[in-house]
Amino acid sequence: MILKVLAPMAGISNARFCLKLAPYGFNMVTLGGYNADKPTVRAAKKIMERGRLEFDFSADELPYIIQEEASLIKNNADVMVSVNLRAVSPDPIIEISKIKEVDVVEINAHCRQEELTSIGCGQALLMDFERLEDFTREVVIRSDSKVSVKIRGNVPGIDESEVVRILDNSGVDYIHLDAMKPGFDCADLKLVNRVSKMIKKADLIGNNSIRDLESARRMLKAGADGISIARAAMNGKLPFDLSLL
Ligand SMILES: Cc1cc2nc3c(=O)[nH]c(=O)nc-3n(C[C@H](O)[C@H](O)[C@H](O)COP(=O)(O)O)c2cc1C
Repeated sequence: MILKVLAPMAGISNARFCLKLAPYGFNMVTLGGYNADKPTVRAAKKIMERGRLEFDFSADELPYIIQEEASLIKNNADVMVSVNLRAVSPDPIIEISKIKEVDVVEINAHCRQEELTSIGCGQALLMDFERLEDFTREVVIRSDSKVSVKIRGNVPGIDESEVVRILDNSGVDYIHLDAMKPGFDCADLKLVNRVSKMIKKADLIGNNSIRDLESARRMLKAGADGISIARAAMNGKLPFDLSLL
């Protein structure tokens, strides 16, 4: 089965939004990203102070909210539900994995806001291989749902091949790669191809700049097992039908 994933968009991707998009042929939708602990909530407050309101969320009510949102999706669409989570330790992510309606917890190793990276969250996880390995292993071992890790490609100083090797060895189910190519309005398909050859067990979800069936097919041809879409779906519609993939 080709994975067709609605990618996380903080402040946008709630159950109502996911349900609007599911009929376009997605078989996995993503809630969030959410701040899952007190340090990330504090960091998000600082980000909001400079106008990025999509980072708003309180960690205390999060398990309840996610349970409600995921149930709403499950009751109305036949899709897997993933939840993208920002946290400085594995525990809050493991807690969300215990929610029956949650199929996948996604560790956010992607956010690059300084307020989050300075507390070791988001992209900062990619800078410390030992921590990345310990963090993901612990989530994999104790999680009740599948585990995904969302990473960004072409981060200066980061060797994606090593990151992918660590994640694959840790036993994650999905590696969700934003194959961003700085300065270009398209995905770095060479990176997707290189990374896909390193992965032995996990499924590779290729992300970035998919805006029609052709760009989705190119991503799959480059070696991804599935594709994910954010901006092309941002207004609640998709200008193409993913079931034709
Ligand atoms: C408004 C907005 C919010 C986003 N929020 C998140 C997030 O919370 N977590 C995350 O991992 N990625 C987030 N992303 C990144 C997207 O999931 C995706 O990786 C990126 O937009 C590239 O894919 P695209 O070209 O299909 O948009 C966000 C993107 C947008 C546009």
